[in-house]
Amino acid sequence: MGRVIQPYIVVTRANTLTEPLRQYLEEWFHREFENNSIEHDKPRWYALARFENIFIGRCGILNRKIMVGNHPMRVSGISGLTILPEWRRMGIANLILNQAETFITQELKTEYSLLICRDETAPFYLKRGWERIDSATYFAQNSGMYRFKKTTMIFRCVHRQWPPGDIDLCGLPW
Ligand SMILES: CC(C)(COP(=O)(O)OP(=O)(O)OC[C@H]1O[C@@H](n2cnc3c(N)ncnc32)[C@H](O)[C@@H]1OP(=O)(O)O)[C@@H](O)C(=O)NCCC(=O)NCCS
Repeated sequence: MGRVIQPYIVVTRANTLTEPLRQYLEEWFHREFENNSIEHDKPRWYALARFENIFIGRCGILNRKIMVGNHPMRVSGISGLTILPEWRRMGIANLILNQAETFITQELKTEYSLLICRDETAPFYLKRGWERIDSATYFAQNSGMYRFKKTTMIFRCVHRQWPPGDIDLCGLPW
C-alpha cells in the first residue's frame, strides 16, 4: 500500500441522494462493468467514500427475500463495489466494506449477505471472511431465468452454516 489517505465513508439511502448524484453512481457502475450484459437491480443504500469533495469509491447495498432450496431466506446484498482507478490499493475498498458490513449487521440485521462476482475478484472477498458457495445461482432477466456462471459468495453474520440447495435470487441480480 502506497499513499495513505483518510476518506469520509458514509452509508446513505439511495432515495435521499440528489437525482444527479444517483445518476452519476449508476453511470459509474455501468462504466466499470460495461462488458457485463446482465441487467441488475438498483441498490437501496450506498456506502460511499469521499475525499476532498470527490467520490472515490462506491458500493450498493440492498436486501431481498431469496430461496435456497425450498427455504425462503432474507439476505442483504452487496453490489458494484468500485474504487476510481487512481485511488486503488490504498485500502479504500476495505474501509467501504467495513462500513457496509457494520450497517448490514446492525441495521438490516440479516443473517447473511450475498454477492456475485467475477472469479478474479473472489480472493479480495475471501481475505475478508466471505465464503464461496458452490450451489448453482439463478436469477431473472428479461429473457427468462439465467444460471450465473461465475462466483457466488456469502458473508455470515451468524454462526450458522449456509444451507445447501440451489439459490434463486427471486428477481434481478445485484
Ligand atoms: C477490487 C477493488 C474494489 C479493490 O479496491 P481497493 O481499494 O484497491 O482495495 P483495497 O486497497 O482496500 O485492498 C483490500 C485488500 O484486497 C487486496 N486486493 C485489492 N485489489 C485486489 C484484486 N484486484 N485482486 C485481489 N486482491 C486485491 C489488497 O491487497 C488488500 O489486501 P490486504 O487487506 O491484505 O492488504 C478495486 O480494484 C476495483 O474497483 N476494481 C474494479 C471493480 C471490481 O472488480 N469490483 C469488484 C466487484 S465484485
